[in-house]
Amino acid sequence: MTNPTPLHSTAPVYAVASGKGGVGKTGITLTMATTLAKKGKRVLLLDGDTGLANLDVQLNLQPKRDLAHVLSGESTLRDIALPVPQLAFPQKDGTTGQVTLLPGRAGHAGLANVTQPALLNMVNALHALVEEDAYDAAFIDVAAGIAPTQLTLCAQAHQTLLVTTPDPSAITDAYALIKLMWQQYATANARLIVNMASAAEGEYVHQRLTTAVEKFLKLPPLPLRGIVPTCKTYATAVREHRIAAIAHPNSHAVQAIARIATGLLA
Ligand SMILES: Nc1ncnc2c1ncn2[C@@H]1O[C@H](COP(=O)(O)OP(=O)(O)O)[C@@H](O)[C@H]1O
Ligand SMILES: [Mg+2]
Repeated sequence: MTNPTPLHSTAPVYAVASGKGGVGKTGITLTMATTLAKKGKRVLLLDGDTGLANLDVQLNLQPKRDLAHVLSGESTLRDIALPVPQLAFPQKDGTTGQVTLLPGRAGHAGLANVTQPALLNMVNALHALVEEDAYDAAFIDVAAGIAPTQLTLCAQAHQTLLVTTPDPSAITDAYALIKLMWQQYATANARLIVNMASAAEGEYVHQRLTTAVEKFLKLPPLPLRGIVPTCKTYATAVREHRIAAIAHPNSHAVQAIARIATGLLA
């Protein structure tokens, strides 16, 4: 029997989502997680986007077990949890900040074909793992799209970090995600991140989206978590499968994302 009652961990679980693909979710998720681990936090990263440029590829890892084993019942989330060797940060007080990956599988349909009960079980297990193993935060890298799988992952998180760019189709898709989450899941937990935007562009996008959600959905204003500039160094790091927050900590994009991550702790 599936328990449909959402279980909520004490530490926050963030869904990083967008309607449209290629807006920067995976890079932002990894950079936020790395920033928090550098500050001594224990961070769990669930790869819900099993496209080609997924997190284990980005991190040059070859996991033996992944979410497909969890969904088939062969493994638990704890079995597949993989502390990322490059993302362990010993602290002065003797503790270690660490990013731990729950790997997806590149090219595997994975979460795309999962049933709702299996998905809810997995999300409940994620909250339980965060609680039992005392993680400080978890991030879900949600696949692009507005199908029930994506909506469920967002609705079951404490907060949805909704990523868009100034591209009109990305804005339209971001609005669609907010609308469906509200209409179908009665959830309004989104916060906005505008990526690849100047400050003026970011504020314009925020204004457009918050006006739409207030006017058409009668929701409270959509809070803006941050604006991330386009940065060549950052793009190069991603292309070379290097961790931008480590290889290029001074990149303007990394610094903007780091500010967002630090804001999450407040
Ligand atoms: N702020 C940025 N500046 C420059 N390039 C970026 C920025 N954010 C993302 N990109 C580039 O956009 C592409 C898509 O990013 P990715 O994180 O894989 O997006 P998604 O997970 O949403 O599909 C990558 O090639 C990445 O380097
Ligand atoms: Mg991605």
